[in-house]
Amino acid sequence: MRELQIAPSILSADFASLGDAVRSVEEQASWIHADIMDGHFVPTLTMGPLTVKALAAVTDVPIECHLMVTSPWDLIEQFVQAGATRCTVHVEAGRVREMIERARYLGIGVGVALSPDTPASEILPYLELVDVVLIMTVHPGFGGQKFMPEVLPKIREIYERICNASLDVDIEVDGGIGHETVVQAVSAGANVLVAGSAIFSAGISPVAAIKDLLQVAGELSLG
Ligand code: DX5
Ligand code: ZN
Repeated sequence: MRELQIAPSILSADFASLGDAVRSVEEQASWIHADIMDGHFVPTLTMGPLTVKALAAVTDVPIECHLMVTSPWDLIEQFVQAGATRCTVHVEAGRVREMIERARYLGIGVGVALSPDTPASEILPYLELVDVVLIMTVHPGFGGQKFMPEVLPKIREIYERICNASLDVDIEVDGGIGHETVVQAVSAGANVLVAGSAIFSAGISPVAAIKDLLQVAGELSLG
């Protein structure tokens, strides 16, 4: 069985205390999920390599950079130098094969992401080449949006492709993952769970929120 992993998205954390936010989840987190938005690929502008470098200095948890940028080829090297362990590029940005090769050359993990309206067929050529497929369950750009259940068949389709080809590729879901929706996502085949507001704005401690999510998801995958 593939390992369940939790990837807290610091987009929903207090930006005045990002180091504390990272430290508050590091016992349970498999990844720190850093949403890199350039104000062009998506309207929001978030953080750059300097922030990633500062976070990498305060934690040993691997950092995954979710690159929601128009020109990942201009930026990936900076994020690797900053300490990213894995970079995930959007298939909609293009030059995907080149980006995968660049990431491998630079010695990091690599993922390919697809937005809700992008069909599974767009990422199939890259399935054998990546560590993770990130399936957006909201439109990229903002935290705190509502999970889109219409994406579930796509998660199932990609999961079946991965199983049929016996590939060692994780399926990561990103957007609107919380206590209720995690069940649907894991049932469909996801094993890496990105969660922002469900962890950092849940009204309980981040640790308690993660334990909650893992418990619900874990019971499901064991059952
Ligand atoms: C959205 C980002 C997500 C976001 C998830 O574009 O990619 O990682 O932070 O936030 P929640 O969990 O609040 O939907
Ligand atoms: Zn993300």
